[in-house]
Amino acid sequence: MQAFEPKIIAFACKWCTSKEVEELQVPSNVKIVKVRCSGRIDPTIILELFTRGSDGTIVFGCPLGECHYETGNLHAEKKIKMLKKLMSLSGLNSERLRLEWISPLEEAKFTEIIRDFVGQMKTLGCSPLAGEKPDVNMLINLEAAKSAAEDFRLRVLVGREKWLLDNGNVYGEPVNEGEFDALLDEIVKAEFIRHKIHYLTREKPRSLKELAAFVGIKPALVLRHIMNMRRKGMIALDRIEGTTPLYKALEVQ
Ligand code: FES
Repeated sequence: MQAFEPKIIAFACKWCTSKEVEELQVPSNVKIVKVRCSGRIDPTIILELFTRGSDGTIVFGCPLGECHYETGNLHAEKKIKMLKKLMSLSGLNSERLRLEWISPLEEAKFTEIIRDFVGQMKTLGCSPLAGEKPDVNMLINLEAAKSAAEDFRLRVLVGREKWLLDNGNVYGEPVNEGEFDALLDEIVKAEFIRHKIHYLTREKPRSLKELAAFVGIKPALVLRHIMNMRRKGMIALDRIEGTTPLYKALEVQ
């Protein structure tokens, strides 16, 4: 039997290593993509790679304080934090995504870290989304996660972490990292659920009970999310069957 070789994508900020991609000594199952700055990586691309069966993704950025665009690596750190939360909510092990800081002076570390990551992915085994029979429920979850990551609310929150920690909330009250994390958790979870409801009601109109079973929460909580989604123009009442209201997704502008 052939040994499992995980499919890995490594995004590397071009300032982390002076070597060309072809010169880097990495295993053939690792594809390196050089980017201008780690902060430029779109979170939805990382989630899309997982939906296509990638086993692991690693991101290399310049050490904190050394980004050539000042705060690019800080943004990368926040995006990875959000992505890991979305992966966990989707049922995909968040260790399949890793962020590392590296400077051009430590080039040897680059291949060392890649090898370590390959070893870690071998231990985790093949992604549930790879192969001929990917986990369908997880695929739906990742579609919801992608839409949530694209959502304006999450993008703004992730982009404002440093500002909030430095300046406090709109009332000038200080916000510490733990409080910000709890807020991020809550919003990531709410957006994930709403986008999953949106995905499911795009397929066909569904009842609260059906949605509650799919999402794994109580119907009363689904209703609260639906009220919020109706205000945002994401969902509408399609019809009432007997005494059961059925909801359908609206195209989000
Ligand atoms: Fe390297 Fe921004 S320039 S992380």
